[in-house]
Amino acid sequence: MTPDTHHNLVPDNLDAFWMPFTGQRQFKKDPRFIVSAEGMYYTDSQGHETLDGSAGLWCVNAGHHRTQINDAIAQQLDTLDFAHSFNSGHPIAFQYADRLVKHVPDPLNHVFFTNSGSESVDTALKIALAYHRRNGQAGRQRLIGREKGYHGMGFGGLSVGGLVKNRNPFGLLLPGTDHIGQTHGLPANRFARGLPPEGKDLALDLERLVELHGADAIAAVIVEPVGGAGGVHLPPVGYLQLLRDICDRYGILLIFDEVITGFGRTGACTAAERFGVTPDIITTAKGITNATIPMGGVFVSDAIFERFMETDVPGVELAHGYTYSGHPVACAAGMAALDIYEQESLFQRPAQLQTVWQDSALALQSLPNVIDIRCFALLGAVELSPRADAPMQRGLEVAQRCYQKGAWVRPIGDSLVLSPPLIISEQEIQKLFTIIGEAISETS
Ligand SMILES: Cc1ncc(COP(=O)(O)O)c(C=O)c1O
Repeated sequence: MTPDTHHNLVPDNLDAFWMPFTGQRQFKKDPRFIVSAEGMYYTDSQGHETLDGSAGLWCVNAGHHRTQINDAIAQQLDTLDFAHSFNSGHPIAFQYADRLVKHVPDPLNHVFFTNSGSESVDTALKIALAYHRRNGQAGRQRLIGREKGYHGMGFGGLSVGGLVKNRNPFGLLLPGTDHIGQTHGLPANRFARGLPPEGKDLALDLERLVELHGADAIAAVIVEPVGGAGGVHLPPVGYLQLLRDICDRYGILLIFDEVITGFGRTGACTAAERFGVTPDIITTAKGITNATIPMGGVFVSDAIFERFMETDVPGVELAHGYTYSGHPVACAAGMAALDIYEQESLFQRPAQLQTVWQDSALALQSLPNVIDIRCFALLGAVELSPRADAPMQRGLEVAQRCYQKGAWVRPIGDSLVLSPPLIISEQEIQKLFTIIGEAISETS
């Protein structure tokens, strides 16, 4: 389409939409409208094309405009637009759940459907609390997150989250939460190829909280296996296994928040599988439907599920759910996304592309102001030194320049974070990093 065709898509009035996580006043002075997307590319209202370096927001894992998914959605709408799942059922939710759990490590064989990552996290935390009550351990009420972690914007996820700018505006948040120390920033891990070699023992910080609160007061620990929205923080080699061991020792449930890492990002359907560490609960969303229809899923182990089922009391075992849990259209979208992931072996792409991804990323390390590069699977971050007088400004300017040059990358602070669709080619990886490199060199 020509720029003119796009022009009539630009809205006249920008006032009514209160945009999420956006500086409204700044954006609305100089707005940018994305009007279409195809494969690896977005097009804006000026007709300018950009390579999508972020898979939307870590979610369009199979690339844009997958007609197979669109067709499945249309067909589902023509058949059954909506039926709820409160003491009622429609076939596709059961069929989809049955298929989905086969992609997640044993024994996580049950899935609770939600509509977003934030709902998945809150659901997981509630299941953990309710599980311990069922187990006769009602004292286990503390929920532990990690500094710099991101678990969405529900009160539960925000409370275990560790990003001060997100927490601060909202006061005290949930009582009884605490945080283990972050894993980011060890000098020995700078510019590591793949997982950081140092820092496994940072997991021992959980023992500090066990000593402080008592193990029998702690319900669960939630971590992102690879931190995303905090700036792409990779787990040190051995760290996740050590966390698992400590949780086992003290009867604490381990939750992996795989809202970003789920559905292929690390080179397997889940990071749990990729790293060979099985948590008790996994939260997902985003790539579950290739971002076409909002949906999330919380996977729980047999042991947890069965604990809820082992009761003589009739009726609801878990008083929790959403109007749209297992929405038929979302299930159809998820089913079609799974078809694509399977047919195109997309979960294997990060391993196939890893060498070119890492070579291309690390080639930027001698550029001015580059203080760290993190690259693993199809995840990455290029961290720039903050300007003394204006932190985050350099990252923003480099990202803007990348956009002008044809690559859309996301600045988080002074890091440019990367998570392209898994369909990216080797040439597109090289193009992405060439643009980033040029943009860095051209920005003071
Ligand atoms: C690890 C993690 N958990 C939860 C969420 C929240 O997901 P949503 O924005 O769909 O609520 C995100 C979003 O980026 C995330 O990265």
